[in-house]
Amino acid sequence: MQMSRREVLGTISGVLVGSALTGVNMAFSREAAVQDGYWVPHKLDAEQAAAFAYENHFYKGYGCCYGAFQGIVGMMARKYGAPYDTFPMHMMEVGKSGISEWGTICGALLGAVSAWALFWGRADRDPMVDELFTWYELASLPGYKPKKGLAFDGDLPASVPASVLCHPSVSKWCYEHGIDMNSKQRSERCARVTGTVTHRAVAIMNAKIDKAGFAVLGPGASRTACGACHSPDGESDILKGKMECKACHSGALADVFNDHP
Ligand code: HEC
Ligand code: HEC
Repeated sequence: MQMSRREVLGTISGVLVGSALTGVNMAFSREAAVQDGYWVPHKLDAEQAAAFAYENHFYKGYGCCYGAFQGIVGMMARKYGAPYDTFPMHMMEVGKSGISEWGTICGALLGAVSAWALFWGRADRDPMVDELFTWYELASLPGYKPKKGLAFDGDLPASVPASVLCHPSVSKWCYEHGIDMNSKQRSERCARVTGTVTHRAVAIMNAKIDKAGFAVLGPGASRTACGACHSPDGESDILKGKMECKACHSGALADVFNDHP
């Protein structure tokens, strides 16, 4: 298998390996772009990043996670080169369809927060994730509208996913609007969601870089209410996670095992 220099560097990144392979001293540029092991982020134009994410969603069918990651890291690679262009971008395809069609986390969210993880550790990143995920649960998606739709050109209806998971996000939209999962419209919907999520993620990232702070929406009503007891200090410390409880525990889901159309 042939590997380009970039792929080799991306696979076994490091100053010494880079220098040994190319004979070029990369120490200077890396020093400026890497601090304490984290890559230094750059502010981006949210509109431009959203459009780039949307387009990349369709690249080789790599999908949402890859698209959102490209919208951020790929955009920086275009503008600033190394180290951003050394990342083996194709690995982000892993998040497509909530990871191998399992419908777990929405891949657009995974792609965006993976990009952030290159720049910030947990202490900085967690509030950013809280903001992005809480916003997503309540957002009317898909939102972003390209100049020309690549899978389907036209208006699409919107739904509130109520969950950060791919499965309810997609299936609820399909059910509410009578659109098949395996349709051009659904594919277009997820590409647009990728654009919308990237737009939001870049806005949060820019505010973080500016040290301007960003609005943290705070947990939804039921999460606060239920968390009063289901928390480390509460009387029932058995809850893992921050997802909005209502999506699953409100009794709103029909019991299709006993009563099905
Ligand atoms: C006043 C405290 C309190 C609040 C508020 C509370 N819980 Fe609980 N919950 C408990 C306790 C205590 C248990 C028993 C489990 C245990 O011993 O830890 C429990 C059990 C549960 C269980 C497992 C048992 C069952 O009935 O299915 C679920 C699911 C649950 N809670 C969800 C929720 C959700 C969702 C909310 C918010 C709507 C919520 N709880 C609010 C105290 C609370
Ligand atoms: C994506 C769906 C989903 C969301 C969102 C969710 N849960 Fe659950 N939760 C589950 C499932 C599924 C189980 C396992 C239920 C079972 O097997 O009885 C569970 C289990 C629990 C249990 C253990 C009791 C039991 O019946 O196993 C508690 C307590 C609980 N959830 C509370 C919460 C609270 C509080 C929230 C919000 C902060 C929340 N959950 C959000 C799906 C969800």
